[in-house]
Amino acid sequence: MSTTFKLDTATSRAHPVPEPVRRLTVPAIQGRKKDGVTAEPVVMLTAYTARMAQLLDPHCDMLLVGDSLGQVIYGLDTTVRVTLDMMVAHGAAVVRGSYRSVVVVDLPFGTYEASPEQAFETSARVLRETGAAAVKMEGGEVLAPTIEFLVKRGIPVVGHVGLTPQAVNVLGGYGARGRSEAEAKKIAADARAVAGAGAFALVIEGVMEPLARAITADVSCPTIGIGASPACDGQVLVVDDMLGMFERVPRFVRRFDDVASRITVAAQSYAGAVRDRSFPAEAELYQPKAGAPAAKP
Ligand code: KIV
Repeated sequence: MSTTFKLDTATSRAHPVPEPVRRLTVPAIQGRKKDGVTAEPVVMLTAYTARMAQLLDPHCDMLLVGDSLGQVIYGLDTTVRVTLDMMVAHGAAVVRGSYRSVVVVDLPFGTYEASPEQAFETSARVLRETGAAAVKMEGGEVLAPTIEFLVKRGIPVVGHVGLTPQAVNVLGGYGARGRSEAEAKKIAADARAVAGAGAFALVIEGVMEPLARAITADVSCPTIGIGASPACDGQVLVVDDMLGMFERVPRFVRRFDDVASRITVAAQSYAGAVRDRSFPAEAELYQPKAGAPAAKP
């Protein structure tokens, strides 16, 4: 790789910032919601690499190393096949590339559901090996005892209710949740249980808007919506979706750019320049210094 970077040997960070930047903390995020009101919405995006973290970090409050990396980075069909090693490697990269945001790492399927002890072992490894501040896990009432167990032992947790992609095989797809009264009641109960167990923030994904609004009014921790409601205390999107990297995106995604088209144009220009031999040009070549003896190949 030819990218140049300066390495801060004290912190192993590429591109150290000139001024020390104080990282936001879990209590600072939790404290954004006071008496049910969040004056400053929580800005969250996913990030999976150090360079993307560097670019997003100044604009975000939280960076989520989501298990969506299974689809986005690895081309897997679901998040069910994501491994803990993948999450740890990408989590560490995002922490190295960020200074300000609270970094949260998703616990992958099968690494936390069996028991509070299993979840503790997994979360401890994630925090130890990545330097992230918190973990996120999908699930509702059934996970509440696990969340309480972790929080009491020093592991900050973000909950995730509504559409929970790791349960795709049970749900049968990625359709929005909470259309029936029974399902809406269940999701509301899940949210209450997760928040009551001590989660410091709660992702609400892919639910009917009035349900997300009602949950936000009901729970004391900040809610972070994705396909949820503008009333949520913050919003999150998968970064590649909002950059316009994919042709097909769910209804709730807003594309803030069309990076895929721009990459296509750049790749076409490069290919053309290689084929017509206009690249590399004189300014892109190394030449021996004037007067230097010619090196014999
Ligand atoms: O994995 C992920 O990126 C997520 C977000 C969609 C919230 O969980």
